[in-house]
Amino acid sequence: MRKIFKRLISLFLVPIVRWYLRKERQYSYLGVNIKVFIGVFHPGLFYSTKFLINFILKQNIKNKSLLELGCGTGLLSIICARNAALVTATDLSQRCIENVTFNAKQNQASITIIQSDLFDSIDKQTFDWIIINPPYYARNPKDEAELAWHCGHEFEYFQKLFSTLRSYTNANSQVIMVLTLGCELDKIFAIAKSNQFDFELVQEKYVLFDGKDFLYRISPINSSVSIQH
Ligand SMILES: C[S@@+](CC[C@H](N)C(=O)[O-])C[C@H]1O[C@@H](n2cnc3c(N)ncnc32)[C@H](O)[C@@H]1O
Repeated sequence: MRKIFKRLISLFLVPIVRWYLRKERQYSYLGVNIKVFIGVFHPGLFYSTKFLINFILKQNIKNKSLLELGCGTGLLSIICARNAALVTATDLSQRCIENVTFNAKQNQASITIIQSDLFDSIDKQTFDWIIINPPYYARNPKDEAELAWHCGHEFEYFQKLFSTLRSYTNANSQVIMVLTLGCELDKIFAIAKSNQFDFELVQEKYVLFDGKDFLYRISPINSSVSIQH
């Protein structure tokens, strides 16, 4: 049943989304107006970005350093900057960097923007918060737009993320990731575990089409930090 549903989604929903995204779009959330450039993940068409935003706004982010790893349009980063977080927004895609730069300027948000393959070009430092809405389908991205969805045939994105994450966190850092029922959760958890990281479920939410979204806190194995749910 689930397989048939997924097949129907890729037959009908994916082409409709592609058709809609053939043009630059406007989107507004919590009073922040942004443009979604062609080839950039649209934060309004899926629940994942809003799930992260609604969670992070309930946390203590004032004057805290916050990294959005893979920021797309930068909507989450702009909202966090408006709520007094000290935000760094990064992305590998040049188009996303242009988009977040444009949106930050339009919204007069003060954000440090860095083009980087995961942590490669980020100066050594630790962040209070690291927020990630990752690509999770096990395929090699064919172009920049597919970076939003495809994490590499062998989950290279997650392999690299978990092998470098430790250097950018300290004992009080909180790393939050959104994932969905539609991705290979076990595989991602196993890669994290092999790098001595654990996933702890913080919230879950039923969503249309892909079933359920999950928010996880990722911690080094054997550490414990409390978090407001
Ligand atoms: C699902 S989108 C999420 C975008 C944004 N965080 C949001 O929630 O709206 C994933 C983002 O990760 C970026 N990305 C993929 N691989 C990356 C990498 N190796 N390093 C940095 N960013 C990457 C993509 O370009 C894309 O913008």
